[in-house]
Amino acid sequence: MLTSNLILIGFMGSGKSSIGRLLAQKLGYRFVDTDRLVIEGAGMDIARIFATYGETHFRDLETAALESLVGMQRQVIATGGGIVLREGNRQILGQLGWVVGLLANAAVTFKRVSRNTKRPLLHTEDPRGTITRMIAERGSLYENTARFVVDTSVLTPEQIVGIILQKAEELGPALP
Ligand code: S3P
Repeated sequence: MLTSNLILIGFMGSGKSSIGRLLAQKLGYRFVDTDRLVIEGAGMDIARIFATYGETHFRDLETAALESLVGMQRQVIATGGGIVLREGNRQILGQLGWVVGLLANAAVTFKRVSRNTKRPLLHTEDPRGTITRMIAERGSLYENTARFVVDTSVLTPEQIVGIILQKAEELGPALP
């Protein structure tokens, strides 16, 4: 049976939070979202953290949030899209449990993220172009950090959860 933690990585809008919630419900695990931990810890939303203290400070808070999850089990952890940027974070992710990559094509991503304006890195003249460029830049980081990757562009949440549970089961227990 699956033990330890399941961690979801992937670009903004790849479905980490919604799939993560469903997965946690199915497994009876706790659901945690590193963005949420950062927001609660800082007492302000991410756009304000970026605007007030800058991205590096946000990344430090993000790393601290990730570190706070080490040693706990039975968690489904949704992460911020940039968590893979730091080598140290990538190591922690691997220690926490099975890392699952979610990806979606640029058109689907744009459609999903246009619904809210809370992502400072997409506050550009050309968000669609920014998304395409960032997905290309980060793609190999997601692929190399994840044990397996699921494309969420066309599948239903239930189908995606089914695939993840089956693959995680095949991999076996992920005890750090
Ligand atoms: C970021 C993704 C966001 C959030 C922040 C930076 C990124 O999280 O952590 O705006 O660098 O990709 P989501 O992936 O949950 O949108």
